[in-house]
Amino acid sequence: LRYGPDWEKLRKSVEQPLQKVVSQQFDKIVAISEEFTERILTIRNKQEEVPNYFKNEIYKWCLECLCSVTLNKKLGFLDLCGLSSTSDPGRLLDGLIGATKAIRKCEYGFHLWKFMETPAWKALVRNCGIIDGVLDKHIQRAMSNLRERKDKRSNLDNNISLLEVLLLKEEVAAEDVMTVLLDMFLIGINATAHTVAFIFYHLARNPRCQIKLYEEIRQFEGNLNKEDVNKMKYLNACIKETLRLDPPIPILSRHLNNDIVINHYLIPKGTHILFATHLNSMREEYFEDALKFKPERWLANELGGFGNDFQVFASMPFGHGPKACLAKELVELEIALLLAKVFQKFKIEYNYGDMQSSNELLASPTKPLKFRFIHRI
Ligand code: HEM
Repeated sequence: LRYGPDWEKLRKSVEQPLQKVVSQQFDKIVAISEEFTERILTIRNKQEEVPNYFKNEIYKWCLECLCSVTLNKKLGFLDLCGLSSTSDPGRLLDGLIGATKAIRKCEYGFHLWKFMETPAWKALVRNCGIIDGVLDKHIQRAMSNLRERKDKRSNLDNNISLLEVLLLKEEVAAEDVMTVLLDMFLIGINATAHTVAFIFYHLARNPRCQIKLYEEIRQFEGNLNKEDVNKMKYLNACIKETLRLDPPIPILSRHLNNDIVINHYLIPKGTHILFATHLNSMREEYFEDALKFKPERWLANELGGFGNDFQVFASMPFGHGPKACLAKELVELEIALLLAKVFQKFKIEYNYGDMQSSNELLASPTKPLKFRFIHRI
């Protein structure tokens, strides 16, 4: 389904309402980010360091934001009293973590699962079944909710979730809704969590950048709105620079429907092409000091930046064209809100040497995220 005219139609059905739903959910996303900062306070040890499982806490923040946007529901992933593993949200979380691990195992080395049911393949099927089961309950509930609202002739435009918008579209089948949700939950959450982890890391390793960021965001304490986020130029530059250095999806792929000619080479229809976008964004000819974290490179000169005129394709963390990431605006907004809330409250340190990305499908950081979150009083 992910290619061809059917996918294009489905993609359009998601793209347009997504913008509207994100605006409607803005305050809730702010509240979820505030909850995340509270959670940090609860799980830090006496040295103000968060535990080995901190990656899962970031994951839970992503999941809560995505549930707010897609289901218009708060499922309580960040509740201070913890999450029961037998509850539906607990099962969804475990299912997603299990499926992620299984996908990594399936993708590593020789793809034996294409010929026989390997343990990793079985784990993937089992975990996708769990995710499917929980999401299906939400689909059924949304359908009955829509029927009720239609019967009562209440306004369907108000406070409607992305899931409900999709279910209302006659051309979209319920199975297709499930496919989109699965993609969003599985790939979207991993990509976002990876990005947040590396932004924390780069800012922890570059205290000078952290000071600059704090100087910017301290002007926006109190209630944040969307215009405030657009004004946070340095913060947005930190996100761009992290995505240049450690993109969660470092390679793009395309299956050619037609013959094409690139640089005098004829590439025939049916070829599968891989683009090493990450390698491109690390090239010195496009980015001076390419290995260094320098958010300034994305800023215009008046903000103390270099204001380089980059090639459009030099860094492409969200891909490009009709198959580019459809949640770019959502992701940039939710990460910006999270950073504003976290850095208003804490300074971050990381004392465990260099961290890298595993650079595999559903990449993850290679070390535990044992950051020190030092409370600003
Ligand atoms: C920092 C976070 C994220 C990054 C860097 C990212 C990046 C990408 C990239 C590189 C692609 C492939 C683009 C291409 O081939 O040209 C993609 C596709 C996609 N992304 Fe994201 N993504 C992120 C988060 C999300 C989230 C949170 C969602 C869901 C709400 C999402 C939904 C999708 C979907 C549905 C596609 C498939 C689009 C298609 O095939 O037409 N992404 N993303």
